[in-house]
Amino acid sequence: MKLLEEHIIKYGTALNNEVLKVDSFINHQIDPNLMMKLAKDIQDYFKEKEITKIVTIETSGIAPSVFLGYLLNVPVVYLKKNSSKIIGTNCYQTVIHSFTKDVDYLITCDKKYIKESDKVLFVDDFMANGEACLGAIDILKQANASIEGIAIIIEKAFQSGRQKVEALGYDIYSLARIASLENGNITFTE
Ligand code: G4P
Repeated sequence: MKLLEEHIIKYGTALNNEVLKVDSFINHQIDPNLMMKLAKDIQDYFKEKEITKIVTIETSGIAPSVFLGYLLNVPVVYLKKNSSKIIGTNCYQTVIHSFTKDVDYLITCDKKYIKESDKVLFVDDFMANGEACLGAIDILKQANASIEGIAIIIEKAFQSGRQKVEALGYDIYSLARIASLENGNITFTE
């Protein structure tokens, strides 16, 4: 999506060869106008799909998801990150390993918020190695929900996330695909 690429070039910074900082419009401060346009773009891509629920992971996936949920008129569920493993049996849970942060964390979801009848669109702000997305897929499978697609705001195409998730047969729509952050230069895939 051209507009997002322009924002990334104008306001983003390559912190090093692997990490893109976009605090000014996604990860710290949120640009609601941009979020609405991103949500419309996602809505358009998945227009043939019947979606009954948006699922994301806290924190930064929530903003675009809420705009999309508003447009589609469906609820938004965010999977919660917990450090404690003392969770009741009324929750789905799985462990995710973050390569970027080199930590394991637990994500949980109350069983009452995702049902077998749900047709889910999973949305997240970044895809790097795909671990968060695979964790969300695990939770949705535990719930026997149907996964209609995956929307990612910024995909780092030089990392392995897409490969892993596509291998499972899912349709991933990324609004911006970063080809490289080498030497501070942000480039996109064609
Ligand atoms: P993965 O899920 O694709 O394997 O990614 P990874 O675990 O490596 O990423 C962990 C966290 O770091 C996630 O956010 C992810 O969105 C974020 N992240 C990964 N690469 C980048 C990057 O280049 N730039 C930025 N800004 N974030 C990146 P999180 O810890 O869940 O944060 P938040 O959603 O609470 O803000």
